[in-house]
Amino acid sequence: MGQILNGKELGQKLNLELKRKISLISKKTGIKPKLAGILVGNNPASELYLKIKRRTCDEIGIDSILVNLKKDIRKEALLDEIEKLNEDKSVHGIILQLPLPKALKPLTKEFIEKISPLKDVDGLHPINRGKLFDYNEDLVPCTPKGIIALLEYYNIEIKGKHAVIINRSNLVGKPLIFMLLKRNATVTICHTSTSDLESHIKKADILVVAIGQPDFITKDKIKEGVVIIDVGTSRVNGKTRGDVKFEDVFDKVGAITPSPGGIGPMTVHFLLQNTFYAYQNQIKM
Ligand SMILES: NC(=O)c1ccc[n+]([C@@H]2O[C@H](COP(=O)([O-])OP(=O)(O)OC[C@H]3O[C@@H](n4cnc5c(N)ncnc54)[C@H](OP(=O)(O)O)[C@@H]3O)[C@@H](O)[C@H]2O)c1
Repeated sequence: MGQILNGKELGQKLNLELKRKISLISKKTGIKPKLAGILVGNNPASELYLKIKRRTCDEIGIDSILVNLKKDIRKEALLDEIEKLNEDKSVHGIILQLPLPKALKPLTKEFIEKISPLKDVDGLHPINRGKLFDYNEDLVPCTPKGIIALLEYYNIEIKGKHAVIINRSNLVGKPLIFMLLKRNATVTICHTSTSDLESHIKKADILVVAIGQPDFITKDKIKEGVVIIDVGTSRVNGKTRGDVKFEDVFDKVGAITPSPGGIGPMTVHFLLQNTFYAYQNQIKM
């Protein structure tokens, strides 16, 4: 029977600890951390994600602002908006909610590169990505940070284990490679062109799935005792589902994250943690 890696519970505990630290430092300095979220257009999922992030900011003492821009905003105007936030000393963290509308999507990299690396709390700026190459985890993407924190909290051994990641995105799979390597795992990364994906899945001691396909991982595909981190999210009949058929695999796994209630709350926590880190760094300057 598998152990449940309860990200909701741990996320709440870490949020409380962070709230205490923020309150102490804000009182001492008279400055509160502030996060700015840029939303281009009105994609309902993006609106919801930003709403959750801002609500949690509010709960733990981080100020937040929403910069809501029109779907057809010109490239230069969006770059100017980012620059304004870079220059605003009261703003310590900036997130550009992705994906951008179709017309701007091919320019995503350019917008990310415009965000000051000091305020890049999503950890996507090339400077922060480069630092991770050297195992520096100061500002790295929040989902992999949440995955590692959850594994470490539950004392799941990473060293010497074979970790298989199904995802190679900038937000999840790529940064996670370095974070697992740093902790001495052997890492295999899979994607849509991977041949014989099933043989890789079967060899995993730690399996991270982030593809957004409900019930993709079933009991017959996994090794006995595997630790599964289910990152993927999809909406099925109005409910959030992960990539793993939870009830099917549960008695075969060593440990597993539920979905919802696993990686989502850990991701939100590490956005706040990154904002706090960026704030501390900037108020020292
Ligand atoms: N819970 C959270 O906080 C959280 C945070 C981040 C993401 N997510 C979820 O995680 C999922 C991935 O997010 P993302 O932003 O990384 O998405 P993404 O950029 O679309 O990446 C998906 C990755 O999965 C791979 N993939 C898709 N279908 C596959 C298949 N059948 N077999 C093997 N590989 C497959 C893709 O391969 P290619 O590279 O070859 O296309 C790609 O690397 C989504 O469901 C998202 O909602 C959840």
